[in-house]
This record gives sequence, structure tokens and C-alpha cells, in this order.
Amino acid sequence: MEQTMLASFTVAHRTMQMDRIPVPQPAPGELLVQIKHVGVCGSDLGSFCYTTERIHSHAGGRRILGHEAAGYVVAIGEGVAGYELGDKVALEPSAGCGKCEFCNRGLYNLCKGIRFFAASGQRDGVLREYVAHPANLCFKLPDNMTTLQGALVEPLAVALHGTELGGAALGMDAVVFGAGCIGLMTLLALKARGVSRVAVCDVVDIRLEKAKELGADLVINSRNESALEAVKAWTNGRLADLVIDCTGNPIALGQTVALTMPAGTIVMIGNPSGPMPEAFDLREFNNKELTLKGVFRYRNKYPIAIQAIASGSIPVEKVADAIYPFEKTQQAFDDSIDRKDQICKAVIEL
Ligand SMILES: NC(=O)c1ccc[n+]([C@@H]2O[C@H](COP(=O)([O-])OP(=O)(O)OC[C@H]3O[C@@H](n4cnc5c(N)ncnc54)[C@H](O)[C@@H]3O)[C@@H](O)[C@H]2O)c1
Ligand SMILES: [Zn+2]
Ligand SMILES: [Zn+2]
Repeated sequence: MEQTMLASFTVAHRTMQMDRIPVPQPAPGELLVQIKHVGVCGSDLGSFCYTTERIHSHAGGRRILGHEAAGYVVAIGEGVAGYELGDKVALEPSAGCGKCEFCNRGLYNLCKGIRFFAASGQRDGVLREYVAHPANLCFKLPDNMTTLQGALVEPLAVALHGTELGGAALGMDAVVFGAGCIGLMTLLALKARGVSRVAVCDVVDIRLEKAKELGADLVINSRNESALEAVKAWTNGRLADLVIDCTGNPIALGQTVALTMPAGTIVMIGNPSGPMPEAFDLREFNNKELTLKGVFRYRNKYPIAIQAIASGSIPVEKVADAIYPFEKTQQAFDDSIDRKDQICKAVIEL
């Protein structure tokens, strides 16, 4: 095997550089995975846009981004059983400490000692040819699944977690704010969980068209029409059982209370970009006995996400609409930022 590998480093504000670094060795309990696909996520784009000063303040003055990955097992660390060379795997990014109260309760996504790919000060990301990773976080993909689908298990896990916390169930009407990767995954997860009808609201037409193609029953461009009026008409005044924000935008978040029916639930997947917006009416929230659920990534969702994709019930690959070779990673990031009206989800192929 080669001694060195290519890695994509973010070295300054919106600037990437390829460099060769040593291939890691799998420690006991780890697998070495040759990475084949990496999804470009909003949080990667956020880190890519940090000021040069902030990027330089990281150890080594540069960072490897990326946390949505799948590939093939190429070396097996000591003490690992149940894997063979050539196994196709998706990598779950979060390793909890395994010792704290939250890890012990199975809530490892809430562990304070968590080590997540490309999270500041935790560990390097996956935009590199090889990654050594704990075997228990490498989930085997069945033959009928591709590594592209494997990389998209990560954002689907977010959606499966958010919809589970929201109690998504058969017979409900749900509204999703945001038709980016996470909003579209949430739409797919809601449908797979048997939610009867899903309305998707965004401000970009091409993203709403994608939502329609993926099974949205109603799409609302809230730049041109009132989401509240549209949902009232759609539900005969009943409003939605479940409203999920996948934007983090205060204008969207502010509308959620009005759209939710009494005893309904609001789920906040989008990372709010500021304080609770004034339009989020706490009195109305109280009078309707609403529930608000926060979502921090996911836990224990890789196995069900893989099953749902392999069985065909969640076609995640339809969300990826722009594939770039590894050497064009910089362009994939630039396009994801500058061409939001044309690209929804970029994926890097190694
Ligand atoms: N909670 C978690 O663990 C978790 C995990 C992953 C992502 N996220 C967050 O989820 C959010 C979505 O991620 P993404 O990758 O899909 O981002 P994205 O930028 O691709 O998508 C966001 C979408 O929201 C739309 N939007 C913005 N303002 C709007 C408004 N006022 N009304 C309707 N639509 C509006 C945009 O047009 C865009 O299509 C981000 O805030 C991200 O940080 C949270
Ligand atoms: Zn992600
Ligand atoms: Zn822990």
C-alpha cells in the first residue's frame, strides 16, 4: 500500500490546497477505510468561509473538512472481528467518550467528550484518501448500496433523528421549512415514516421543484405567498401536526408556531442563526400546548438509515445533484456557496 495520501486542506478563507501526508495506521479496534465519496455539508461550507485568521489559529494552521463519508476497508486493526478487506462501509462521524453519563444512557451525541470529524479541535475531517476509524462506527453497506448512498447516510441520519423526536406518524400533515439537503432528507424521512402529507416551504424555486420530485404534496415559495395562508387552505384550517425547521433562519422559525395545530410539535433541526425570533409567539405556543424539540445530530440511526436506503424506501441519491472529482473540491465548495439556485447537494468522488 502507498505510504502517503492526498488530502484537501482548507488553508485560508475559501481556499483549499491539496497536499500529501502519511497514510494513517489503524489503531487497535480501528479500520483503515479508503474513502470513495464525501458529501459537502452546510457546516463544511461554514468552516470553509471562516476568516483566514481563524483557520490559521487551528493546530497546524490548516484544516481537513468533511464528515459525510463512505468507502472500502483496506486494513484491519488489532482486535477487530467481523470485517474483511474490501467491505463497503459508511463512517459514522461521532465517537463518544464511552464513559460519561450520556454515553452510558445511549445518548452519545450529547457526550461532552465527543470527537466528530472536522469539528473544531476534535479531529480531522474525511476529505482525504484514507481514514482510520473505530470499527464500531463503520457500518457495512449491502451489495445493492453504493458508496455515494453511503456518504448520504449522514444527513439522512439527521432527518431520521429529527422526525423521530417529532413523533412523525401515519396520518399526520407536516410542514418542512427549507428544501436544502437536510430539508429534502427530512421530507423523505417523513414519507418513509408514513406521514400522510408533507408541505415544503423555501424561497428558491429549483429547490422546491426538487422537493416536488421527491414527493412533497405541496410546495410553497414563501417569497411569493404566505406560508400560513397556504397551509390553512391545504389543511382546511386544521394546520399541521408537525412543523420542522430545516433552515435555521429566524423568519422561517418565527412562522412555525402559527402553522402548528394545538397539541402539535415543532422540531428545530436548522441551527438557529440568532436568538428566538420575536415572531415566535410564546403566548400562542403556550395556549396551543405545543412541544418544541431541539435536535443535535443523531444517535443510533446508521443501521436504520442503511436499511431504509437499501430497501428502496428512501432514495437519498436523488438529493445529490452535483458530483465533483476530488481535485475539484475547491470548486465544489465554491459552487455550493455561489450557485445555491442551481445546486442543492454536492458530493466529492475520490
Ligand atoms: N441539528 C443538527 O444536528 C443539524 C445537522 C445538520 C444540519 N443542520 C442545520 O440544518 C440547516 C439546513 O442545512 P442544509 O445543509 O440543508 O442547508 P441549506 O443552506 O442547503 O438549506 C437551507 C434552505 O433553507 C432555505 N431558506 C432560508 N431561509 C428561508 C426562509 N425564511 N423560509 C424558507 N426557506 C428558507 C434556503 O433557501 C435553503 O434552500 C442548517 O441550519 C444546518 O446548520 C443541523
Ligand atoms: Zn452533515
Ligand atoms: Zn461520553
